[in-house]
This record gives sequence, C-alpha cells and structure tokens, in this order.
Amino acid sequence: MSFLTCYVSVRHFRSTCSLYKEVLRTLKGRKTSSQEWLKRQFSDPYIEKAKLANYRCRSAFKLLEIDDKYKILKPGDIILDCGASPGSWSQIAVSRTNADKKDIKKKSGIVIGIDLKPVYPVDGAIFLNNCDFTEQSTKEKIIKILQEKIKSEDEQHVDVVLSDMAPNATGIKEMDHTNIIKLGYDVVRFGLTVSAVNGILLVKIWEGSQSKKIFDDISRFYNDTRYVKPQASRSDSAEIFILATGFKGIKR
Ligand SMILES: C[S@@+](CC[C@H](N)C(=O)[O-])C[C@H]1O[C@@H](n2cnc3c(N)ncnc32)[C@H](O)[C@@H]1O
Repeated sequence: MSFLTCYVSVRHFRSTCSLYKEVLRTLKGRKTSSQEWLKRQFSDPYIEKAKLANYRCRSAFKLLEIDDKYKILKPGDIILDCGASPGSWSQIAVSRTNADKKDIKKKSGIVIGIDLKPVYPVDGAIFLNNCDFTEQSTKEKIIKILQEKIKSEDEQHVDVVLSDMAPNATGIKEMDHTNIIKLGYDVVRFGLTVSAVNGILLVKIWEGSQSKKIFDDISRFYNDTRYVKPQASRSDSAEIFILATGFKGIKR
C-alpha cells in the first residue's frame, strides 16, 4: 500500500468513526422512524459514493445503472427530465448526451429539466424551475423551448423522456400508488406527443394494483417495454421503473 493510499484510508477511517459517533449521539431521544431513517442514511453506500462523484443525490446511480445496461443516452440526444430536482439525473444526461459540448468531436444534445422546486444550474441543462409538470402551461413552455432549440415547428424530436417524479408520499400505500400512476400517465401522454420515432421512455412508479395497466398501456406504443429495478433502488422500496424503447410513433 502506498503512503498516499494509507493516508487516505486512515483519514477515511477517522472520519467514518467520528461520523458514527455523531450518528449515535443524534439517534438518542429521536422517534423510531427518524432513527430508522438516520440509520439507513448512515449505512447507505450510495450516499457516500454520490458525494465522492459530485452527484447531487444517490438517485444518480439508478440512472447510471440503467444507462450502462440499456444504453439509453447518446451524444446528440434530446432529453426531457421530469422531476429533475436536485439535478443528479440531469448531470448524467448532460454528460452522456454531450449537452455541455465538452467533447467537440461528438454531437451535442439538449437536456430540459422540469421541477416543482428550483434546481441549481447544471452547465448545459435548461431548467423550468417551480413548474408543475401536470399543468398545461408547463407543457407549452417545454414545447416552446423545443421549437426554439430545434428551429422547427414540429416538436416530435425528443429522444428520451425521463421521469423520476414522485408526489409527496402520504404513507397510505394505495393513495400514493394512485398519485404516482396519475403522474406517470401524464408523462406518458405528453411523451407520445413530443417523442421522436424510436424514442425512449423511462418512468418511475411505486408498485401497486395499477402497475400492470400502465405497463400494458405503454407497451402499445413501444416495441419493447420492461420493468427495471436498479440495485441502487432500495430493495424495501415499492419503487420500480418502466423502460420502454422503440417508440412506434403516432399519426397526428
Ligand atoms: C426523487 S426526486 C427526483 C430526483 C432527480 N431525479 C435527481 O436525480 O436529482 C422527485 C422530484 O419530483 C418532483 N415532482 C413531483 N411532482 C412534480 C410535478 N407535478 N411537477 C414537477 N416536478 C414534480 C419533486 O419536486 C422532486 O424534486
């Protein structure tokens, strides 16, 4: 082991120990649910990995895993990132589509992120902050950006529609499921109007009674549809992604 590796390991061990002591101190006197949350945060390797890689949150690894396996993001692609805050999926989308034009030899893409909350800027991405995706005015804004960027009246050029959107969870499983399915259908419907032929859709849902219905509805419009549960998605979470590739296109 080199001096540097040894030095880094010792520093990491020390900081982990002090963090552990801090966690134990913080856990004292807290409600069980808060204790569970803190314990999960402390033992979650993806949180530390996200910090080291400069990603804004652990969700980054879900998209990285999906993209590494299914190759959904390519240089030059046009991406819609629905529910973009705090911005880790947009960070990945920008770098994989070359939207920041870092590689002058490759085509550069376009990444448009939308969220109810503000998103701190990501070089190369365009954000519609404080915007509710379900509102018509937001969709009009997205279409306007697309038309301006592509310099065409026709907006059916989006290569990948991503949705990691999640409504505020109430804790009532069936109600949360219904709410996320509603959001999912909104993304699917809009996706059908803006996607290019052969486009891709990746949408998050929480599993429940309506999962099969939305899955079947999506499959009618795409050549291949599948469920994807990346390892970075917590195994005790109902979260699952529907990945649909090869959009067949729709006649207007
Ligand atoms: C799990 S977070 C997304 C994390 C993001 N993929 C990332 O990697 O940084 C879900 C986001 O969906 C957003 N969201 C929920 N409902 C929305 C809606 N109707 N319109 C826009 N954003 C919404 C929330 O504000 C939240 O920031």
